[in-house]
Amino acid sequence: MRATWVIPVAALVLLLDRSDGSAGQRGKSVDEPSKYVPSVGEIMTKIDLSRSKLWYSVKLGNWALADYQLEQVKTGFDDVSRHHPDKSNFDFANAQKIANSIEEAIVARSDEQFQQSFSRMTAECNDCHRAVGKPFLHVGAPKIPSPYSDKMLEPEAFR
Ligand code: HEC
Repeated sequence: MRATWVIPVAALVLLLDRSDGSAGQRGKSVDEPSKYVPSVGEIMTKIDLSRSKLWYSVKLGNWALADYQLEQVKTGFDDVSRHHPDKSNFDFANAQKIANSIEEAIVARSDEQFQQSFSRMTAECNDCHRAVGKPFLHVGAPKIPSPYSDKMLEPEAFR
């Protein structure tokens, strides 16, 4: 009785095993991670999210979170260049320079310096969108109230 299902199950296991990556993908190991490449639009959506969280964290005086969010924005710029080398005409040098001045404002805990650099960054985002023929992708300054109030807390909350 047992053998009647053992054989089909064993055959199925073999079949699944063989279909997993080896067929058709020359020289690729089965354990290799998937090569999902996020689109420029996806990375940009993430950049935008981190950019606005950056602004809200400074409003809350949560400088540690601000530093984290800025890092996410910078990584996003790098990710576009890394994943889409064919789009080398997208130049993030200026955006990275502005990100560095935001970093300085965070280190100095200067709200005023931060607001100035943040405005420059917003202008840079929109300048590039205009340059690539998509001026309708306009980003503005985030507004109060924060849509992230459930996730973003004042630093005192962690003490
Ligand atoms: C050097 C060029 C460049 C810079 C700088 C840039 N972007 Fe973009 N962004 C693009 C391009 C190109 C697209 C359109 C991608 C597409 O067509 O899928 C885009 C799309 C977007 C979108 C729309 C995403 C979607 O699919 O809904 C948002 C939001 C966005 N960018 C936010 C930002 C923000 C915020 C910044 C600044 C912090 C920024 N971008 C800086 C090139 C840039």
